Amino acid sequence: MPDRPLLEVSDLTVEYRRGGERVTGVSGVSFTIKEGQAVGLVGESGSGKTTIGRAILGLVPITSGSIRFDGVDVGSPEHQRLRSGPGQIRAVFQDPFSSLNPSLPVGVSVAEEVPGGRRVRAETFARIAYLFDRVGLPYSVSATYPSKLSGGQRQRVAIARALMSGPRLIVCDEPVSALDVSVQAQVLNVLREARSSDSLTYCFIGHDLDVVRYMSDWIIVLYRGQVLEDGPAATVAHNPRHPYTQALVAATPETDVTGTRKKRLPRTRDPRPEPRAGEGCPFAPRCPLVIDRCWTEPPPLRTAPDGGRVVCHRYDEVADTTGGVQNMPVRNAAV
Ligand SMILES: Nc1ncnc2c1ncn2[C@@H]1O[C@H](COP(=O)(O)OP(=O)(O)OP(=O)(O)O)[C@@H](O)[C@H]1O
Ligand SMILES: [Mg+2]
Repeated sequence: MPDRPLLEVSDLTVEYRRGGERVTGVSGVSFTIKEGQAVGLVGESGSGKTTIGRAILGLVPITSGSIRFDGVDVGSPEHQRLRSGPGQIRAVFQDPFSSLNPSLPVGVSVAEEVPGGRRVRAETFARIAYLFDRVGLPYSVSATYPSKLSGGQRQRVAIARALMSGPRLIVCDEPVSALDVSVQAQVLNVLREARSSDSLTYCFIGHDLDVVRYMSDWIIVLYRGQVLEDGPAATVAHNPRHPYTQALVAATPETDVTGTRKKRLPRTRDPRPEPRAGEGCPFAPRCPLVIDRCWTEPPPLRTAPDGGRVVCHRYDEVADTTGGVQNMPVRNAAV
């Protein structure tokens, strides 16, 4: 099937147990990533971005739904068998300190990505030298321990390591959020360059819509573990169709690199608790456009002419005929 997407996430639900309680990580999330595409996941803290990334990597058990990579169920014995080989899924996380072994020179950590990589072999050294050059590090860094490197250098090593085995999909979970602003753009550019020269496919996770826009062709907006909107990156970032995304765009100048100063939308005056999944829209308590139906009926999923999806009772009013947006007057002003 040539048109089959590289990654297919279908109706994914992940629940965690905290104490005796069940906590929803994500609920009913579906999307696909085509070969060569860069799909961004954006949303505020706790919206389920990392849960999706970890589920794709097979690091958290799926409660229901499925994830198929190149047609093979993630977590199945067949996927486990293929996993260490080339053409699979690799990751770059926010904090490379926790993923690079502190007691090994970084070159050894990178070499271990290929089977038998610690054996002294010319082709392994050559590949590391090539990758270090591509991520902008001198080869001499390979003999250095992680604690002796700057955050930006460590993240470059983490990218080289992710590329080492020749993966097809890279999951990047907030790869620059822990870095100084001055080096963030350099590291993002290393990732962009790797994508175009290796025809890589990305799932790029971030809380900053501008960064996600820079890195992605398609953006998925998450809120409380659910997809509220997705679409072409330029549309979602510049003409968002969902009131939540509009709020995210409006909040962007307020966001610092760690997201801690992010301006949050206040609650509306309606005192009702947030509707449960399947009983209303999770964004209702904070939505400036909320109407009665939003509290009691799950919002419908509508597909725009450009293929983007919007989950909102008021879609017909916010979307214009070209699939863009008309800025709506705020009816139920938030307090
Ligand atoms: N190991 C866990 N145990 C219990 N609950 C968890 C666990 N990991 C995540 N959660 C919960 O699942 C939900 C989604 O969390 P997740 O970490 O996926 O969000 P996120 O969008 O990555 O947030 P952030 O921007 O802070 O990284 C949150 O309510 C969170 O508290
Ligand atoms: Mg996260």
